[in-house]
Amino acid sequence: MTDTASFLAGEPVALVVGCGGLGSSIARALGRRHPLVLVDVDDARLGEVVEGLNYEGYTVSGETCDITDAAQCHALGKRLAGGPGVRAWAQVAAVGKSIGSWRKMVEIDFIGARLIADAIGRQMVPGGAAVLISSLASYLPPNKSEIDAALRDPLHADFFDRLANAIGYEPDAEEAYNYAKLGINRLAEQLAVEWGPRGVRAVSLSPGMIDSPMARTEGADLPSHDGTNARKSRADKAKEVPLGRQGSMLEITNVVDFLISDAASFLSGIDITVDGGHRAAWRGTGVISR
Ligand SMILES: NC(=O)c1ccc[n+]([C@@H]2O[C@H](COP(=O)([O-])OP(=O)(O)OC[C@H]3O[C@@H](n4cnc5c(N)ncnc54)[C@H](O)[C@@H]3O)[C@@H](O)[C@H]2O)c1
Repeated sequence: MTDTASFLAGEPVALVVGCGGLGSSIARALGRRHPLVLVDVDDARLGEVVEGLNYEGYTVSGETCDITDAAQCHALGKRLAGGPGVRAWAQVAAVGKSIGSWRKMVEIDFIGARLIADAIGRQMVPGGAAVLISSLASYLPPNKSEIDAALRDPLHADFFDRLANAIGYEPDAEEAYNYAKLGINRLAEQLAVEWGPRGVRAVSLSPGMIDSPMARTEGADLPSHDGTNARKSRADKAKEVPLGRQGSMLEITNVVDFLISDAASFLSGIDITVDGGHRAAWRGTGVISR
């Protein structure tokens, strides 16, 4: 699906990578101010979302792309280079623990974001902003400089070995999610520094427990306040959030919308937790050291 060329003569676009539950919600918000380019590996899902948003009156186009494939990311960047530029980039694509392989998990949830950044960086216009969707789980890894150092260079030929060495073992796919999302936080910091001189901002956003399609099927088994990984139902875990409930996708989307807007024009290079106070509670009980 490549009809992006049809409106590349217009305004700078909002690029939403990953158009599942949260990505579609974010697209609806950003699409009120910018023409949309939606990206997903799932051609059928992408087609449905694009058609639905078109029907609602949005200016929207779809690009099928596997973000783990550098050549496909490069081709996406080349197509966007033919247009007026990218005003907003929301990186939402991810998979849950059912992917099985820890390397595949890290490739999709982290390295793919770096490949997209490299492919579209030159197309980000001054005043533009990137929001990389991370997770509260990014605060779970131990605070070790070797881990941060490995995550700073995901395109290194020995990246996976360096990361496993820094961790001390090869994590399973569920634990690898935490490291992939920590990588996303680090990437936002790096992009803020790389792109800042051109007037482009970058932040990561870490949702806590959010009721979304991915959470219902793939939800991470977050630790309890006593530090155990006791298997509790999602509803019981939600009671440990200071606000006493899960958040909604709209409560994430509203913050993304703000972060992308000019109202956040001096906000760059940090991670924003949107978690009902969950991280604060974890820190208070010593579950996390970050
Ligand atoms: N729901 C929660 O509780 C929660 C909490 C923290 C973080 N998050 C994060 O929110 C984000 C979105 O969650 P969601 O519920 O919308 O997920 P979702 O599963 O509905 O959507 C993810 C999308 O990513 C796409 N995708 C997967 N692999 C891809 C690839 N290789 N190339 C391109 N696209 C690919 C999928 O096809 C899918 O459309 C994720 O980054 C997730 O980690 C969610």
